[in-house]
Amino acid sequence: MSRRYLMCRPTHFAVDYAINPWMDPTAPVDVDLAIRQWTDLADTYRRLGHTVDEIDPLPGLPDMVFAANGATVIDGVVLGAQFRYPERAAEGPAYLAWFARHGFETHEAKFVNEGEGDLLLAGDHVLAGTGFRTEPGAHGQAQELFGRPVISLNLVDPRFYHLDTALCVLGGPAGVAYLPEAFSQGSREVLRRLFPDAIRATGADAEVLGLNAVSDGERVVLPVQAVGLIDELTRREYRPIGVDMSELLKAGGGPKCCTLEVRG
Ligand code: ARG
Repeated sequence: MSRRYLMCRPTHFAVDYAINPWMDPTAPVDVDLAIRQWTDLADTYRRLGHTVDEIDPLPGLPDMVFAANGATVIDGVVLGAQFRYPERAAEGPAYLAWFARHGFETHEAKFVNEGEGDLLLAGDHVLAGTGFRTEPGAHGQAQELFGRPVISLNLVDPRFYHLDTALCVLGGPAGVAYLPEAFSQGSREVLRRLFPDAIRATGADAEVLGLNAVSDGERVVLPVQAVGLIDELTRREYRPIGVDMSELLKAGGGPKCCTLEVRG
């Protein structure tokens, strides 16, 4: 099924500050390589028949490439983002303005929420992460706004600070793939009940941000380094498509982070 994605070219990409354990401001970053990898990702989506829209990158916002954090969009209704750290604060209004200009119904965030980094639509449920970035109050706002049951999930490992680094919505027979150890005991139990056939990822796959993947229910775009997960997806009759996002990984992001799904 064809999807619509919003992406932001990494023209101003850099690792100038550290707001997650992956970021090392002293390590060099190759912006041209980041742009090539990002372009490959966008081309991959287009080849799969998806639509890719672009938002203009703004100077001084090196993490704006991570479009997933910019908003959450369900049924044409947009919940804006409110970022945890001041370094990214200006991205929230920039993304919300894009949606307003393109005719969407937009709503400002009342609590910290980092968009689809922590709010993922899985069937009729919104899976909502908290623990590092998004505040629980935002889960309530999302439930009220979208009229879908919101399932709060507690993240416990700082390397997997956004829900989309610990869990991927696959659709199809498995429903989701996730790293159990990234969640609190109670949240693991909730996931087990909701998704009995889920793929449980290994630490090795999660550590290359293998779960930071984009699925259309059949084809799954994910980091090519996630070899175990790629095998398992094939075994479960998904079609994995590996992409190399090594340069963006230096900021703690992968393919899903670069991709905001626009649900009309
Ligand atoms: N450097 C960014 C941050 O820490 C990376 C965001 C990754 N995005 C995501 N959806 N997980 O905020």
